[in-house]
Amino acid sequence: MSELNLVLLGPPGSGKGTQGERLRDDLRLPYYATGDILRAAVRDETELGRTAKEYMDRGDLVPDEVIVGVIAERIDSEEAADGFILDGFPRTVPQAEALGAKLGELGRALTGVLLIDVSDEEVMRRLGGRRTCERNGHVFHVEFNPPEREGVCDIDGSPLIVRDDDKPEVIRKRLETYHSKTEPLVDHYNVQSLLRRIDGAAPPAEVADALSRTLATLRMEADEAV
Ligand code: AP5
Repeated sequence: MSELNLVLLGPPGSGKGTQGERLRDDLRLPYYATGDILRAAVRDETELGRTAKEYMDRGDLVPDEVIVGVIAERIDSEEAADGFILDGFPRTVPQAEALGAKLGELGRALTGVLLIDVSDEEVMRRLGGRRTCERNGHVFHVEFNPPEREGVCDIDGSPLIVRDDDKPEVIRKRLETYHSKTEPLVDHYNVQSLLRRIDGAAPPAEVADALSRTLATLRMEADEAV
């Protein structure tokens, strides 16, 4: 079977992390979420984390040159030989171009870009109630996807916290950043016939079903092209 190289695209809070975790388990592919990678670096006080923190706290993107190397290294690794799922990367046109160049260098290409589409109003509602597992970033929502025990991650028992960038004024800034810097990728990938749009406003299980159907089609197309 051909490799599956996927990108999850969408505004903050559209459900990329929620669906990305499911996809990682279903497809058994490595899942690289740049937000999680950067938050771990901030927590571990690495050089990457020290650089990234000020940008993240105010809802800006970290500079392209900081993040491109982080992802290039991972897709060039043995574990990503059969494919990968990228969440939160690329987020700018230069990042998309760098990803395309790296894949070209490796003789590979993207299989599909899955856009999880939701409105700004829904983003505000979702991020206001999000709770995130402190250790591994598993995501919950106080109303839409509550944990079994309040304040505790169902998966690894870690405390659930409110992310620093889930304050209303930072959420608004992140949305602005998405519309100005990341949304141009919709056209960028549409003209390459890679974009698949999923309605992210439905409940998580329905979004997961829509993603599965889209992936089945992408797989068929990729196998036919081999
Ligand atoms: P990152 O962590 O990637 O943040 P984001 O893209 O803003 O996405 P989120 O994690 O906020 O949301 P999500 O789409 O994963 O939604 P989730 O599943 O959690 O990045 C953080 C920061 O890092 C950036 O601001 C930037 O500074 C930096 N950064 C990262 N990548 C970068 C890059 N490439 N370049 C430069 N800088 C970069 O869901 C949200 C909530 O909704 C949850 O509570 C969930 O339970 C709930 N929910 C999910 N689906 C549904 C549903 N269908 N119905 C109801 N509720 C739902």
